[in-house]
Amino acid sequence: MDTPESPEAGTPNRRGFLNWLLGTSVGALFGSVLYPVARFLSPPEIPEASTRQVEAGAVNDPELLEKGFKILRFGNEPVILVRLGDEEFRAFAGTCTHLDCIVEFHKEPGRIWCNCHNGEYDLRGRVVAGPPPRPLEAFQVDLVAKGAGQPKTVVVSRA
Ligand code: FES
Repeated sequence: MDTPESPEAGTPNRRGFLNWLLGTSVGALFGSVLYPVARFLSPPEIPEASTRQVEAGAVNDPELLEKGFKILRFGNEPVILVRLGDEEFRAFAGTCTHLDCIVEFHKEPGRIWCNCHNGEYDLRGRVVAGPPPRPLEAFQVDLVAKGAGQPKTVVVSRA
């Protein structure tokens, strides 16, 4: 019989502890490797964006005045807002219909342009050059007065 003072007394407990430690370490290692792989193979469902309307800022937004366009977040999709005049704006889906690159606006010659493969759209969203197979989806743009003396707000909504 082992007594606490004998040299063999702690051996079974120490061995048991080492076995437990090794077992849990291997289990943790498998968990830390398998869980990310499983999440990668089966990603969680992302709910469809239910955005119907987005405020894009004031009509005198510095970015709009300088560049003539701005990319907005419309739920989880980009939208390009183009400023053509003080009270004239257009909005379209911000991804090219060819391979989904983000489009931009060139004031001269007044075209929405995709720099991936040189696709071009006119200011109605129609394809005028390059490989895009379809026009850009158009969005509705409204200017909403926020108060006396305040610049109007540009509101973009799904047409
Ligand atoms: S992705 Fe726009 S032209 Fe190819």
